[in-house]
Amino acid sequence: MQSETILILGAGGQIGTELTMELRKVHGGANVVASDIRAAAPIVMESGPFETVDASDPKRIAEVIDQYKVTQVYHLVALLSATSERIGIPAWHLNMNSLFEVMELCVSRGIKKMFWPSSIAVFGPTTPKANVPQQTVIEPTTIYGMSKYAGELWCDYYFKKKGLDVRSIRYPGLIGYKSAPGGGTTDYAVEIFYAAKQSKQYTCFLNAESRLPMMYMPDAIRATLQLMDAPADKLSIRHSYNITGIDFTPAELATAIQQEIPDFKIDYNPDFRQAIADSWPGSIDGSWAKKDWGWVPQYDLQGMVKDMLLNIPVPATV
Ligand code: SER
Repeated sequence: MQSETILILGAGGQIGTELTMELRKVHGGANVVASDIRAAAPIVMESGPFETVDASDPKRIAEVIDQYKVTQVYHLVALLSATSERIGIPAWHLNMNSLFEVMELCVSRGIKKMFWPSSIAVFGPTTPKANVPQQTVIEPTTIYGMSKYAGELWCDYYFKKKGLDVRSIRYPGLIGYKSAPGGGTTDYAVEIFYAAKQSKQYTCFLNAESRLPMMYMPDAIRATLQLMDAPADKLSIRHSYNITGIDFTPAELATAIQQEIPDFKIDYNPDFRQAIADSWPGSIDGSWAKKDWGWVPQYDLQGMVKDMLLNIPVPATV
């Protein structure tokens, strides 16, 4: 295998933490440069190089690329749906400008391969609700969704016009225990596990019937590595791939948790995030990812619930 030096922007985030560790297993700790605007989890800081990088500062990104002679970039920095709605236009600027800058740096530095995450947030109220096909009506109504969709178009453009082998996945809501999400609409599906383990009670900020596409983090990381390893000529989608995971409602997730913790209780107090969830579909058809690079998820709802509850730390006894 040709040796790679990988730069991860946003290595302290929910995906970045786990992806950094997996990539270090494959490529060796020293060959995966983690970066973020602030310190990442100790495991990331201690297992290989870490650089403080503000993704809105292209000079600093260039400096790190040159210092380490980077050959691949995973650009994971973004403000998620709920945070982007809260802060407005600056979220658009961060999400979009950092993507342009990183793609331009890849082109100018001869970096051929890049990963950039998109999201099921690209879909909007006019998208079919169930089994959303790869190509469909895409009219997002959130700032985050608009930035992801515009970004997908730019990925396709850079691939076609500038030969940058940029690859992307439309991640569903991601659930894991090694790193916390922040500012997303699907974050309830992580919070609920900590509440179940700690107080056996959770008040959900979405209503009981909000069905959303989700995925357990080990599947998401495996999908990412699998897509990045796939032969370029097999990839027919250069915007971003739909991938199949699991879909459930808060009520269904609560029932699955109650099978493990029978006295767990949930109630509902929807806030502004309900409107965001209502604009997104409930399930995704990932048949292009399956056909092009063999994507098949491993975790179902109960498998994910069991594994989460097993791995979340038990609360300290007082
Ligand atoms: N998990 C993201 C969010 O809720 C969707 O990609 O914003």
